[in-house]
Amino acid sequence: MSQYQEKATVVRVEQFSEKNFRLTLDCPLIAESAKPGQFVMIRTAVGKDPLLRRPFSIHQTSKAGRIQIYFKVVGRGTHILAHVKIGEELSVFGPLGKGFRLNALAPAVIVGGGLGIAPMLFLAKENSRLKKNCDNDLIILGAREKNEIAPLLDDFRQFGLKLLTATDDGSLGHHGFVTEVLQSVELPAGCIVYACGPEPMMAGVNEICRFQGIPCQVSVESVMACGMGACLGCSRPAKKGTYTHVCLNGPVYDAEELIWNI
Ligand SMILES: Cc1cc2nc3c(=O)[nH]c(=O)nc-3n(C[C@H](O)[C@H](O)[C@H](O)COP(=O)(O)OP(=O)(O)OC[C@H]3O[C@@H](n4cnc5c(N)ncnc54)[C@H](O)[C@@H]3O)c2cc1C
Ligand code: FES
Repeated sequence: MSQYQEKATVVRVEQFSEKNFRLTLDCPLIAESAKPGQFVMIRTAVGKDPLLRRPFSIHQTSKAGRIQIYFKVVGRGTHILAHVKIGEELSVFGPLGKGFRLNALAPAVIVGGGLGIAPMLFLAKENSRLKKNCDNDLIILGAREKNEIAPLLDDFRQFGLKLLTATDDGSLGHHGFVTEVLQSVELPAGCIVYACGPEPMMAGVNEICRFQGIPCQVSVESVMACGMGACLGCSRPAKKGTYTHVCLNGPVYDAEELIWNI
């Protein structure tokens, strides 16, 4: 699969809450070849601080050659990204990793928690492109509070999936976790669950799916220095005493391939 290093022009900066931002970047080669669940490595600074690129899921692509990332400010790199200006250029490398494997014949149940919502818009879009209709499909989005989800809801609604929400503080949808929603609804027969979010959430989703015999794909995170298999810094324990490198073998896995410690 082809990968590109592009000088991407910032075309839009959206701020959704104090720390949540969405950037639209013009990088046609990456936009054209990206698949849902893949990620890009972005150099956030011109100088050496921070030295390493930062990984971000591809939130959405457009036919106009643009990609979006949806991110939260947690440190130096994301702080710099939150303050970029329209017209600035960022070095973007990608698309990287293995994405979700969608099945056009099976109902999709998409579960995104926190920043794990980021890759799910691209997945929902591709899912609707592959199917005549998405009447049997479901998406469950969860976050700490309303502001982290509400600005994205119209984007998700355009794809025709049934949409449910959950927030930790009860400000939108179910008061509690997305896993509680997943457990309480009747899932469509023959569905596949696609999940991305914090580790405890995905461990919970895996448990529910295992119990009900539902196939589940998860997108996991790890600390990444290179994003392309060179540093081996992204290793994670997998089944049968082996290790997997998330940047190469993931970030999307069948949940049953991984070891869940929580
Ligand atoms: C495949 C992949 C996709 C990702 N997609 C997104 C996304 O769509 N949106 C988004 O907001 N974030 C995403 N992340 C996480 C994002 O890469 C980190 O938040 C970012 O690198 C932090 O950079 P920083 O310089 O701001 O913070 P740093 O100063 O590097 O770190 C700040 C804090 O965040 C922790 N941290 C840094 N990277 C990670 C990580 N990968 N996992 C867990 N904790 C981390 C550090 O331990 C530290 O406590 C993704 C990570 C991976 C591996
Ligand atoms: S991040 Fe370097 S090998 Fe995966």
